[in-house]
Amino acid sequence: MPDTPMIAIDRVNKFYGIYKALSDVSLNIGAGEFFALLGPSGCGKTTLLRSIAGFDNPSSGDIRIDGHSAIGVPPNLRPTNMVFQSYAIFPHLNVEENVAYGLKRLKLGADEERRRVGAALEQVRLGHLGKRRGHELSGGQRQRVALARALVLRPKVLLLDEPLSALDKKLREEMQAELRSLQRAVGITFVLVTHDQYEALALSDRIAVMFGGRIAQVATPKEIYQHPRTKSVADFLGGMNFLSGRTLGQTASGLTVETEKFGTLTLSLPEERIEVGARATVGIRPERLRLLWDDERAPHELTGKVVNRAYFGETTHLLVGVEGLEKPLSMIETNTHGADDLPIGADIRLAYDPEAFVLLADDPPVERVH
Ligand SMILES: Nc1ncnc2c1ncn2[C@@H]1O[C@H](COP(=O)(O)OP(=O)(O)OP(=O)(O)O)[C@@H](O)[C@H]1O
Ligand SMILES: [Mg+2]
Repeated sequence: MPDTPMIAIDRVNKFYGIYKALSDVSLNIGAGEFFALLGPSGCGKTTLLRSIAGFDNPSSGDIRIDGHSAIGVPPNLRPTNMVFQSYAIFPHLNVEENVAYGLKRLKLGADEERRRVGAALEQVRLGHLGKRRGHELSGGQRQRVALARALVLRPKVLLLDEPLSALDKKLREEMQAELRSLQRAVGITFVLVTHDQYEALALSDRIAVMFGGRIAQVATPKEIYQHPRTKSVADFLGGMNFLSGRTLGQTASGLTVETEKFGTLTLSLPEERIEVGARATVGIRPERLRLLWDDERAPHELTGKVVNRAYFGETTHLLVGVEGLEKPLSMIETNTHGADDLPIGADIRLAYDPEAFVLLADDPPVERVH
């Protein structure tokens, strides 16, 4: 990231009356970054995005955009533009008129305006539908008009609030790919709000995960998936098997943790210091457990019984009961060996890699002001 971030959010709090919607949020977003704000409904994603855009102002803290404090600066004077959660395009205006709408106040002249509108429509691949009216467009096309309308103003930052959530799965996936290539092509900063973890993982350079108005972790998709800091982050980003353990000691290579059934594991040290002898939670992702077939052996094995099975086409999700473990383990197997045909009650062996475990911090208590 360059030295001066495009967006610098510094200890922002936001109260709605006595309700604290944002709590001590600090975050830097780089120029040209595709950044995702991810979290469950009500965690404060829209509030944070609206604060960057200037539709809301923080109760305290600072937001700098492109090196300047934006506090008190109205939305239209910020180098940002926002595509709203429920995008509204004018149904009676055609596509070109919709996109040109925001340009009027710039008084660019007819030629320049036409050129800019044409370029924005090309960027979202709607050049051929310029004369179509808003109400004659599909959901995906309307979404593209909303994007073009934001891009035509040439913002330094595009703020996108769940722009794809109204679309069906297939179209959403298509638009996700388009959003990513659009961002690469225009090269500006995108901040995407989503509650869909796969969307965040697939699209962004970095992700901030939020719960209850706080940022729980900021990292690249791979880092956040493979090394979630807390139980909630781990749980929100895909499946995770949680196991309880006890810390034995710290060595140069990490923290040793005694677990049930999986023995003593050496885990990389978290940022927080962990007391020796303390209770600890470790996690392993379902796809990091692997079924062993026939006489295949592995250095680390467990035996168990299939207690449930769900077929997903390319994969099968299994719940495997293991004696001595409180909860069954969840596993994901690709359907190349016949996991999809395993009967409930089948005895299985599974392999695991001790390196695949992560140590998870407890979640901080949710702060609420009443
Ligand atoms: N104008 C407001 N007045 C009072 N409370 C508000 C206001 N706007 C938002 N909130 C509350 O602040 C919290 C955060 O809202 P926000 O809209 O930022 O959530 P979100 O993460 O975008 O959720 P979603 O995924 O459902 O869109 C919620 O509990 C919401 O009820
Ligand atoms: Mg929202």
